[in-house]
Amino acid sequence: MVARGMGVVSENVRDRALGLIQDLSAQLRQAGAPAVEPPYDDLVEVVEGVRSDVSKVSPHVLVSWTVFDEPDEYEYVHPFDVAVFSVAIALAMGERARIVDIGLGALLHDVGMALVPGAADTAYREGEGLAPEDAKEMHAHPELGVRVLRQHPRISAFTKAIVAQHHERMDGSGYPRGLRGSDIHVYSRIVACADVYSSMLVRSHLDRHMMPGEVVEYMMSAAGFEFDKDVVRVMLGCVSPFPEGALVRLSTGELAVVTRLSRGMVTRPVVRLTREENGTLVETDAEIDLARPEHQTTLITAIE
Ligand SMILES: [Fe+2]
Ligand SMILES: [Fe+2]
Repeated sequence: MVARGMGVVSENVRDRALGLIQDLSAQLRQAGAPAVEPPYDDLVEVVEGVRSDVSKVSPHVLVSWTVFDEPDEYEYVHPFDVAVFSVAIALAMGERARIVDIGLGALLHDVGMALVPGAADTAYREGEGLAPEDAKEMHAHPELGVRVLRQHPRISAFTKAIVAQHHERMDGSGYPRGLRGSDIHVYSRIVACADVYSSMLVRSHLDRHMMPGEVVEYMMSAAGFEFDKDVVRVMLGCVSPFPEGALVRLSTGELAVVTRLSRGMVTRPVVRLTREENGTLVETDAEIDLARPEHQTTLITAIE
């Protein structure tokens, strides 16, 4: 199992974010939308913390995602990952002025999910062939989310637009309104890419039906159709599908630890072998740079 809290954001910011999201969801499930007010000042402090930590490493170091092992954790870890990715993308795109609105929108993008009965069980399969009745309920979550935020004047129209539009797609294939292209706010397009990337990485980790590299390929193939191609290009330049320090399985059967991420080659980091295919411990510190031509045929097949 991989240790938690990897990536660039400090443990205390991350823990605070997870706690706030978890509490907010629990309160919403109990008391419903109008009675519960999102803790605006605390959430803004979290976004400032994410911005500060990401700014320290951006644009020279890649941001990586947080591995977790229980589908139950998805509900509060996923919004945090989406916020980190979205802030990294927005900073790389030069969107500094509205970073708090963007980060808040990303943290709260799925807040309406707490009002969808049974969503906690199916959330991590979001978008993955839900039964029609589940899909219909699930598809209400952007509008339910806006309902949670509507009463609160300090939450900006940009943040509300992100919550409302994060499942809209550039080609009109999204929901709830089937908006197209520039009718979808650019901040919503940023969070949409971060959202799908995060949820596909989770699925590739939990279900093992897709390799992390295939998630990157999917995002590239959907750029210009479902997703804003400029946002995808920026995202894949600054967000890695592998956390630094993660234990990964190679296509050779060997186990290795990710020691460094390679900018521009997000699926081909530098790794250090730890075990051979037969389980024998490797007694060397030698690193393998998967970006080098001689290792071209070696792929990372899973995060252990
Ligand atoms: Fe969503
Ligand atoms: Fe989401």
